[in-house]
Amino acid sequence: MTNMHLNSFLQDLSWRYAVKLFDSTKKLESNELDFVLESFRLAPTSFGLQPYKLIIVKDQDKKQELFEKGGKQPQFKDCSHLLVFCAITNIDASYVDRYINHIVSIRNVDPSSLEGFKKSIIGFVENSSPERILAWTKNQAYLALGVVLSACAVAKIDACPMEGFNIDQFSKILNLDRNLLPVVLCAIGFRDENDEFAKMKKVRLNVEDLVRVV
Ligand SMILES: Cc1cc2nc3c(=O)[nH]c(=O)nc-3n(C[C@H](O)[C@H](O)[C@H](O)COP(=O)(O)O)c2cc1C
Repeated sequence: MTNMHLNSFLQDLSWRYAVKLFDSTKKLESNELDFVLESFRLAPTSFGLQPYKLIIVKDQDKKQELFEKGGKQPQFKDCSHLLVFCAITNIDASYVDRYINHIVSIRNVDPSSLEGFKKSIIGFVENSSPERILAWTKNQAYLALGVVLSACAVAKIDACPMEGFNIDQFSKILNLDRNLLPVVLCAIGFRDENDEFAKMKKVRLNVEDLVRVV
């Protein structure tokens, strides 16, 4: 890997910031949205289970309603698309079964070769408390959020990860299935040139303060 490539990714990460003010007149092109969604799809998950769904709010009236009733953060209404990462709350043996069948069809392998793998996932799912499963599912959603944020930075698409929202209102307004729990949001779009936060220096600890090599 050349220094040029290494530096280019770090420049992308420095370019990105949590946008507070989006330019509401600028929307993602469809290929840009596809890129974001593909990065989401390719995110790794524990066992590969992808125990989540992504709701994409594009409709302006819905975004406005989410802003008014769901947390009053201007990014909700001014972004191009609001991504709602939802944990699937009813992960069970039948969900695992479907996943195993999916592997079989994609990789064209003998189902018996996956028996041990299947047992270990079902063991985890059936022997963990609902709280433990939910915490685990949320972790997967946050990891996907991280991948999406990095992908956006590389593509010069602006984004703001967001936890400050009313879960009940979001569930209601988006008419979410009761097995979906919104856990974190990502507003995507393009920064408004008057967003003061774009000019602020990054506040981060030094590597020496964050990392210990043993
Ligand atoms: C999980 C998560 C939740 C966040 N929630 C909000 C939020 O609700 N509203 C907001 O304006 N920013 C939110 N932020 C943005 C952070 O404040 C921001 O990422 C942090 O201050 C670092 O700044 P930077 O991303 O601009 O480098 C959130 C960030 C993360 C990672």
